[in-house]
Amino acid sequence: MKLLALSGSARAASTNTAMLECFCQLAPLDIELELCHGLADLPIFSPDREGENIPALASEFISAVRQADGIIVASPEYVRGIPGGLKNVIDWLVSGDEIIAKPIVLAHASHRGLDMLASLRLVLGTVSQRFNAELFVQFPLMSQTPRDVRRTLEIEENASVIEAFLKDFSAYILHSDSF
Ligand SMILES: Cc1cc2nc3c(=O)[nH]c(=O)nc-3n(C[C@H](O)[C@H](O)[C@H](O)COP(=O)(O)O)c2cc1C
Repeated sequence: MKLLALSGSARAASTNTAMLECFCQLAPLDIELELCHGLADLPIFSPDREGENIPALASEFISAVRQADGIIVASPEYVRGIPGGLKNVIDWLVSGDEIIAKPIVLAHASHRGLDMLASLRLVLGTVSQRFNAELFVQFPLMSQTPRDVRRTLEIEENASVIEAFLKDFSAYILHSDSF
């Protein structure tokens, strides 16, 4: 089982990225979870740049999505919505066939950001028939340093929530229709 983690934050000390990195560390042995790097370097999407004009970075990203059995997304809220960088990442996927049946779930590193979560659920439910809004995990990590995020999530109680979340996602991937 190969999963890809996408962070909507380009901040070096991002809590969402640190949380996803912990997920990678805590994943059960049969789940290979990898954080996707370099998303902030993707050019702004334009339909004119698809096909033979596609930038190498976008092509590499789309290929990573194609190879993943499922995707975990975690993002901050910016101005009550999805950060532009993450929306750009999603836009790059919309006209291809890689995302349409891709299992996707959300994780969240804050007690706030409900507008962004509602918007992201709408967007992900639009681009993928296998977005699972019910499978969701949230930790109140806002303003913590990456080190503190690691310390918090390594506490046994939290680590077992993460492990159960990843196992549930894996079971969903295996047992939901792939259309
Ligand atoms: C430009 C900008 C806009 C933000 N807008 C909101 C907002 O509308 N609502 C909110 O709750 N937090 C907002 N925040 C706070 C971030 O969502 C919050 O700090 C988040 O935990 C940061 O995630 P990160 O650590 O992964 O970067 C904003 C932060 C920035 C930098």
